[in-house]
Amino acid sequence: MPDDKDSNKFALVRSAVRSLRAYHVADATGMIKLDAMENPYQWPDDMIQTWWEQIRTAEMNRYPDPQAGALANRIRAVGLAPAGSALVFGNGSDELLQVIMLTVGGHGRKVLAPVPSFVMYEMIARFTGTEFVGIPLRGDFTLDAEAMIAGVREHDPAVVMLAYPNNPSGNLFDRDAIVELISQSNGLVVIDEAYHMFSHASFIDEIDQYDNVVVLRTLSKMGLAGIRLGYMTGRKEWLTQIDKVRLPFNINILTQLTADFALQNIRVFQEQAERICRERTRVERIMDSLDNIVSYPSDANFILFRCEGCDSEEVFQGLLQQQVLIKNLHSPGTALQNCLRVTIGKTHENEAFLNALSLLVTTDYSLQ
Ligand SMILES: Cc1ncc(COP(=O)(O)O)c(C=O)c1O
Repeated sequence: MPDDKDSNKFALVRSAVRSLRAYHVADATGMIKLDAMENPYQWPDDMIQTWWEQIRTAEMNRYPDPQAGALANRIRAVGLAPAGSALVFGNGSDELLQVIMLTVGGHGRKVLAPVPSFVMYEMIARFTGTEFVGIPLRGDFTLDAEAMIAGVREHDPAVVMLAYPNNPSGNLFDRDAIVELISQSNGLVVIDEAYHMFSHASFIDEIDQYDNVVVLRTLSKMGLAGIRLGYMTGRKEWLTQIDKVRLPFNINILTQLTADFALQNIRVFQEQAERICRERTRVERIMDSLDNIVSYPSDANFILFRCEGCDSEEVFQGLLQQQVLIKNLHSPGTALQNCLRVTIGKTHENEAFLNALSLLVTTDYSLQ
């Protein structure tokens, strides 16, 4: 039992932190893993062999290049960022979100984002002491441009977060509405393009036109979730300030070398993304034919769907019993009531999901 002295110590934890729930990651042991928007494909054997030969010479006794200069050159060379653009790297784009909010957020500042969107926007806002303002999407998860602009005028947020495409809905918000929002914002507009490989839509070639926009990207969804690498580009003046908050040497040497090597083989990842998009079309078509669920059109590598004549919790549990792990987003009384999200996997994984789902959504639970 902790004594009074101990419990007083825990009282030191800031209330903003105490009120948070830790980011939950489900145990996926033995599961068909369709919960986290990962790319399901491994690398070809010969590519693994060449990679291994390259990283074995890494100088592990030295700190890594603090600016990851070779990797930045590679990213620009393969067209993942404009020629000559400035880049800042993060240990995943999650870390960059944190760095952005530490730079422009904090007490008395606000972050504004549509809801539902990526949960870390609110979580990082809260633990950096930044007030979070959520503006509901429309019922079909499109951006409510008027409400967003009204929110920007009322709250004058230091940061506006826009996931393009959005997670968890999977759609691209209207481009003209985003441009209008940028022009109406005094704060920094962060366009988070985590799923750009699957959407073929981007603001990255236009950021020079604006003085208040940065674009965030990650290599996680294209197939490198395990090495944790995100990057940000935008006006040099912004990146110079934001880079002061990034901890030195945040991108380890193995990540730098592995990402550089992987991007020399970018065609492998582009082909995998094309395969995932073809599978997405197929899975969407089959889901559309199922009674009792409504699925939402996706420009990403996952599909959001709502149970309308069935219970999402029972469907989620039923899938788990068939060793299929997806994401349960159900939250009573919110836009995500009865909603689930499935990541596109390999064909046989998607088949396992679709077969189990079609049985579950047509099962009459009242008979059990
Ligand atoms: C919209 C969006 N942004 C950022 C991230 C974080 O990606 P990572 O930290 O792996 O780069 C995610 C992950 O799901 C996401 O959905």
